[in-house]
Amino acid sequence: MDHKAQIGLVGLGTMGAALSLNIAEKGFDIAVWNRKSDRPHQFRKEAGPLAERIIPSNTLEELVANIARPRAIILMIPAGDPVDEMISRLRPLLEDDDLIIDAGNANFHDTTRRMGGPGAFLGMGVSGGEEGARHGPAIMGGGRREDWDRVAPILEAISAKYEGEPCAAWMGEAGAGHFVKTVHNGIEYADMQMIAETYGILRDGHGMSAPEIAPVFKGWNEGVLQSYLIEISGKVAAATDGATGQPLLDIIVDAAGQKGTGRWTVIEAQHLAAPVPAIEAAVVARNLSARIDERATGEALFGAAPKPLPAEALPPELLEEALICGKIMCYAQGFTMISAAAKAFGWTLDLPAIARVWREGCIIRSAMLNDMAEALAEDPERNLMFAPFFAAHVTRTQRALREVVSVATAHGLAVPALSSGLAYFDQMRTGRGTANMIQGQRDFFGLHGFARMDDGSTGQHGPWADAAANPEDTSGKQG
Ligand code: 6PG
Repeated sequence: MDHKAQIGLVGLGTMGAALSLNIAEKGFDIAVWNRKSDRPHQFRKEAGPLAERIIPSNTLEELVANIARPRAIILMIPAGDPVDEMISRLRPLLEDDDLIIDAGNANFHDTTRRMGGPGAFLGMGVSGGEEGARHGPAIMGGGRREDWDRVAPILEAISAKYEGEPCAAWMGEAGAGHFVKTVHNGIEYADMQMIAETYGILRDGHGMSAPEIAPVFKGWNEGVLQSYLIEISGKVAAATDGATGQPLLDIIVDAAGQKGTGRWTVIEAQHLAAPVPAIEAAVVARNLSARIDERATGEALFGAAPKPLPAEALPPELLEEALICGKIMCYAQGFTMISAAAKAFGWTLDLPAIARVWREGCIIRSAMLNDMAEALAEDPERNLMFAPFFAAHVTRTQRALREVVSVATAHGLAVPALSSGLAYFDQMRTGRGTANMIQGQRDFFGLHGFARMDDGSTGQHGPWADAAANPEDTSGKQG
């Protein structure tokens, strides 16, 4: 080998292959290795004019030898045990300052643990699917800042650009990159679920066919909702099945898959006591969607709810407004969760920078994200929906969300994510809620104490406390 690669990559599956071609196209020499030994050579053969930048390696030893020191090797392999196995195979072949970069959808706790092992290690969230990996993904790095800085020129070059600014950044220490990617996916789940709910209203409430629904999404994509997910929803609705000539959507089974990042977001949110109800609703909806037989039993037992809506109810313009409001709630929740994690884990997690990275390349890219970045830059601690720009949107659209949730619910159209977004809004706009009752109950059965409204004192008890102290006195606690 007369020259050495600037970076290496393990795993030439769909994402790894696309990322390697992207790296080569940006002018970097890349050494590649794959578990199936003939794949690297085949891959190079198929790379056309980019082949000259690709160095296929037959063995891991060869891969390591093909990379200039200090080395950087990207792992694009399935998350979980395969990553640990690959690290233990690679590490003995590497120097301490050689960097392993896990670019899969790892659980951020695993990433933090792996960083505790020998040698340099980065966790990197990559979003944008195959197309993004090939032509510009959003990249969320986590680990030691100096390790990120070493590979930043390559990662920034291959990332998506928003008005020339790379959508690749160091998010924070330890597992911060994978954490941010996880929350990205949680938001992705909620955004997708809310879109699916509006699709359900159009299909079952208005009896519209998929080809009739497609232009509705297309129209929304020209307004405030402009986003990758709305755009592809229109394309999915417009697609025809080659085999049957039917609308493709009508032959896709209504059971959503999931690889775990949405669930991790919800689990972590609970640990952080950070409320993300729209994301929770979306994960629950995916879980319920998978229970096809049980749903069929339910329908046979109770009958399907009569879903048709009056012709004038919930027109597409109103659904659009409701989606805008719901979407703001999703993002408000996601960013609040990231802020809670920054405090809990002592990580940098620069909220405006995260919104900036999400503006292009990733699955949740949307016109709103630039406004979000600006709103978060004004005050990263403030709930996004309180920022004047978004408060104005919410003030304008919340009635639409309320109408959609109430009319859809009255007609048996399930809108779990939209309604959880509405409930979140209503709770967050209620100065005096109902938890005084919870506190009263807790004090009654467990003397857990409450705070008083009038003098601000804490650890106070109701009259039942006296009864507990003097069992003879029956004036307070009953039974
Ligand atoms: C991305 C996506 C991607 C994820 C798929 C599938 O940002 O490019 O989030 O990382 O793997 O969206 O995720 P689920 O199988 O969990 O839906």
